[in-house]
Amino acid sequence: MTSHPISGYTRVYAHFAYPSEHVRTPGVFNAYFRRRGIDAVCIPVKVAPAGLAAAVAMCRSWENLAGIGVTMPHKETIAGLLDERTEGVRRAGASNVIKRLPDGRLLGGQLDGYGFVHGLKTNGFDPAGSRALLLGAGGSARAVAMELALNGIAALRIANRSRDRAEALAADVRREFPELAVSVADASTVQDATLIVNTTSVGMKPDDPLPVDLSGLTPQVTVADIIMKPEVTPLLEAARERGCAIHPGLQMLVGQLDVTAEWLDLAPAREAVGDMAVAR
Ligand SMILES: NC(=O)c1ccc[n+]([C@@H]2O[C@H](COP(=O)([O-])OP(=O)(O)OC[C@H]3O[C@@H](n4cnc5c(N)ncnc54)[C@H](OP(=O)(O)O)[C@@H]3O)[C@@H](O)[C@H]2O)c1
Repeated sequence: MTSHPISGYTRVYAHFAYPSEHVRTPGVFNAYFRRRGIDAVCIPVKVAPAGLAAAVAMCRSWENLAGIGVTMPHKETIAGLLDERTEGVRRAGASNVIKRLPDGRLLGGQLDGYGFVHGLKTNGFDPAGSRALLLGAGGSARAVAMELALNGIAALRIANRSRDRAEALAADVRREFPELAVSVADASTVQDATLIVNTTSVGMKPDDPLPVDLSGLTPQVTVADIIMKPEVTPLLEAARERGCAIHPGLQMLVGQLDVTAEWLDLAPAREAVGDMAVAR
């Protein structure tokens, strides 16, 4: 294993979260940097919503900062605090990775959706033609919804605790993909779904309920969760018991390691990712 000791040359990837105690991203990225011999370190940055704008402003003058990773609850708010955005951020209205340009400007990118779908495909599931039930309408849900639409799903139904957020996401997906059948669910039920994706945080705590009523779930349905801790959530466990194929959340992060390092210029680029063009 190649490993660089942290030195004055080391580049920093700052991971913004609130809270940050549960996050797995720094550990996964640091193992990845070691594996690829990249002289960079990922650090957790616990920043509350009230301090986000000040933290972002500070990053403009942080010269050895390669970029910022973003998770709950900042993905949507941070998209409005940046100097430039990619097409993927414009489309999703949320950013999960920010590149610090040499002059200090911050360019927001979006790789969550790519990571999610890449993870599904790597594990043998192509979402094309699926009738997708999306649980949640937060920052990650936005990216996942847009990427599923880009990858040819047949229909999208969105169920979220706050219906107005689900309606807003549905409207944005319809604007970008007018041909796609998009609806907002009255309740979290399986109905005719062939793919279920949990993007809510329900399932992170041991006493959480299931995020969807599983009556009617058949083994033909594929069930994915984007929660990383626990690795197999109660939803995935219940789906596995019913004979369904399951996709744990870690796959979504693993699916974006290479493209993140390459986009942040920490590693030579091998693959172009379409939605990373700068929005005009
Ligand atoms: N695997 C990965 O690579 C990866 C990447 C990013 C995020 N994640 C995980 O994805 C989850 C969401 O992250 P995010 O950044 O999208 O967060 P977010 O923007 O804050 O969205 C949170 C979502 O969860 C819902 N929610 C929260 N508490 C709930 C409750 N008690 N009951 C019902 N719904 C509830 C919210 O509903 P409301 O709209 O009603 O508030 C919203 O839809 C987190 O678990 C995060 O760790 C994983």
